[in-house]
Amino acid sequence: MHAPKHLVDKYNIAGPRYTSYPTVPYWQEHSFSTAQYLDTLVRSFNESNATDGISLYLHLPFCESLCTFCACNKRITKNHGVETGYINALLAEWRMYVDYLAQHSAQRPRIRELHLGGGTPTFFSPANLALLMDGIFAHADRAEHHEFGFEGHPNNTTPEHLQVLFDAGFRRVSFGVQDYDVRVQTAIHRIQPFEHVARVHEAAKQIGYTSISHDLVFGLPHQTIETMRHTISQTAQLSPDRLAFYSYAHVPWLKGNGQRGFDDADLPSGTAKRALYETGKAMFDEMGYVEVGMDHFARPTDTLYMAQAQGRLHRNFMGYTETNTRLMVSLGVSSIADSWYGFAQNEKNLDDYLAKVQANQWPIQRGHILTDVDLIIRTHILNIMCRMKTDWSLASQQFEDLPQTIERLKPMQDDGLLHVSPNGLEVTELGRPFIRNIAMAFDLRLLEKQPDTRLFSMTI
Ligand SMILES: C[S@@+](CC[C@H](N)C(=O)[O-])C[C@H]1O[C@@H](n2cnc3c(N)ncnc32)[C@H](O)[C@@H]1O
Ligand code: SF4
Repeated sequence: MHAPKHLVDKYNIAGPRYTSYPTVPYWQEHSFSTAQYLDTLVRSFNESNATDGISLYLHLPFCESLCTFCACNKRITKNHGVETGYINALLAEWRMYVDYLAQHSAQRPRIRELHLGGGTPTFFSPANLALLMDGIFAHADRAEHHEFGFEGHPNNTTPEHLQVLFDAGFRRVSFGVQDYDVRVQTAIHRIQPFEHVARVHEAAKQIGYTSISHDLVFGLPHQTIETMRHTISQTAQLSPDRLAFYSYAHVPWLKGNGQRGFDDADLPSGTAKRALYETGKAMFDEMGYVEVGMDHFARPTDTLYMAQAQGRLHRNFMGYTETNTRLMVSLGVSSIADSWYGFAQNEKNLDDYLAKVQANQWPIQRGHILTDVDLIIRTHILNIMCRMKTDWSLASQQFEDLPQTIERLKPMQDDGLLHVSPNGLEVTELGRPFIRNIAMAFDLRLLEKQPDTRLFSMTI
């Protein structure tokens, strides 16, 4: 269904993407301590390791070349001498968690979900990635139905990378494609011919990867409906299992000069950007993909879609996942860990991160411990983002501000975006593109203190 222009104009405001609640700018850092976070870590581990297993995120920050649209936490270098020191730091940090958990629990970690993100994980040599995996699994078991995935850059992912990670249990890979148009690629400083993507895609299939995903972005400089059609037709030739279709987050103030490889005037904005999304969505429909949550498309046979259909979809700092783990341990510079009861972010500066780990200190820089109300709101927002509905029939799902929240939902109900009943709300088909706006009605921390609009990207 196309989102009508007047609704796009009305609701396209700056807002969070809700990979966490509270969102990072609203963390109460002054009342946070690492000791408190570690208490929540142990609580969460003891509650969920034996049943659901845990998630582990490893942040691998290096890239050889800067793409000027990129909002990820990365460090650009061509010096591969940095690899060994960084792998050693990740393993030393892992050892700190393993030792701490061993002191407070009789269980050995069971990893259900493992994700290598970046930066560019395939910046590292296959041999170093093998060392990293050996070091992780020297102290942990693989959960029975594990889901291990990594982000591969098509320009530097080799069959050896794919094989080493396959041998460690990885079956999912997402390739950063972004766009195939040469003018767009030039503007974002990322020249990447279709043949490179085709080569790694086929190699991954041959080795036995069962879920190959491509990242595409709409709203990039110089994109038009025609270039978008061309990119998606190229994508169709490879028929990935899943697609991420990200809205370009233009946040140059957060990323220094890194994004200024083009002018604002080169960016499609507002309705033009929405039209790019609608073009993509219509083509994905024709290709047999269905939308999952926000930003993602999958085949109806894909486990991510099935998780959504069965109400098991989950969302965390990695985005949408089908593994509903409570605890996500995160290692590496700038990575964010989530114990459900608390968040903790590591040092964002690489040298500070390395220095702390080398001194055997927790490299945690800041975080937030959730209050009881935060936990209720977190559940409602997660329900909206993953299940398109939420329920407040039980006293444990209610909070003091609920009547005002329902008032805030009314204009959206009048616009046809959702139905509110005495017991909960359901997002309509028309309301799907506006789930970030609907979630914002529950975001008490945002309502208490209106954001500097420059903290967030636009919601539509
Ligand atoms: C860490 S990168 C993927 C791995 C590898 N570095 C690469 O570029 O191929 C993660 C993905 O985030 C998305 N991304 C990065 N910056 C973005 C932005 N400003 N807005 C929307 N998506 C973005 C891109 O689709 C990118 O593929
Ligand atoms: S898009 Fe990927 S390769 Fe490019 S700078 Fe960002 S993380 Fe690095």
